[in-house]
Amino acid sequence: MDYKAFIQEQINSIRETVGDSIAINALSGGVDSSVVTVLGHRGLGDRLKTVFIDNDLMRKGEPERVVKIFAGLGIPVQLVDAKAEFLGALKGLTDPEEKRNAVTNTFYSKVFGRLVRETGAKFLLHGTILTDIEETVAGIKRQHNILAQLGIDPEKEYGYKVLEPLQTLRKDGVRKVAKILGLQAEIAKRIPFPGPALATRIVGEVTKERLETVREATAIVEEELGKSRAFQYLAVLLNDKATGIRDNKREFGQIVVVRCINSVDARIATVTKIPWDKLNRISNRITSIKGVNRCLYDLTPKPPATVEYV
Ligand code: XMP
Repeated sequence: MDYKAFIQEQINSIRETVGDSIAINALSGGVDSSVVTVLGHRGLGDRLKTVFIDNDLMRKGEPERVVKIFAGLGIPVQLVDAKAEFLGALKGLTDPEEKRNAVTNTFYSKVFGRLVRETGAKFLLHGTILTDIEETVAGIKRQHNILAQLGIDPEKEYGYKVLEPLQTLRKDGVRKVAKILGLQAEIAKRIPFPGPALATRIVGEVTKERLETVREATAIVEEELGKSRAFQYLAVLLNDKATGIRDNKREFGQIVVVRCINSVDARIATVTKIPWDKLNRISNRITSIKGVNRCLYDLTPKPPATVEYV
């Protein structure tokens, strides 16, 4: 595939479709939305409004970090604080699909709807890739970012048209495009992170406290496995508890699962063989998080498991 030609085609197509209107896009800092931001910005300049919606479900320090990286590229990103709205929508929910729907609806109709009205945007640029579409259409999982493929008309439901310039690429293709566009390795090589973010890594209810636990565990796993060259690594907070010992006392504590996989595009995955010493180090660090007294390593390939837990 000629990626340079692909880039030019997408820039031209965005420019032609949007015309003199305004477009908006939400940047998460993942490689998909980052590539879309650069393509959109090249096509539309300041007629593309890029926002980073802080839903309180992101990794540690992520919102500020992403805004800073794009400022360095000359692309202004507006940071939108929607933490309370997302946590409110997730309150009391434990069913995986209900949690995903709550994130989708809060994102598209509430927060985005408001931003679209404020900016007068008629178009939304979105980083949907081919794998998202295939898995959603196959009914394996409702991805956060698929609307048209499910027969939902965003113009009718939410008041804007969605453009998906990456919908013919898989993750490896997006990374190649990112590199050609000059995105730094931190972005171009970044491991995948799901749209509903840490909500997919908390089994059971998403609360402020549980988010802090999984956010801390995620930071540890990413730091320890950053050089592993694995496709993806993550931490999950289970809804179960187990007995343990802390400060010579019995403690009924939380359980964190560490998952690390090899894959090309996340459609199938095998488990990474992590050296025992490394696993021990991760376990020691994770069980020093407040209230966590057990750390497990997930040995399940995909299938039968999926990558995320929700
Ligand atoms: P699963 O859990 O379905 O994940 O095996 C496959 C890959 O997709 C990511 N993932 C998502 N990405 N929105 C996204 O943008 C989502 O709703 C979503 N759910 C899962 C996951 O991290 C893995 O790389």
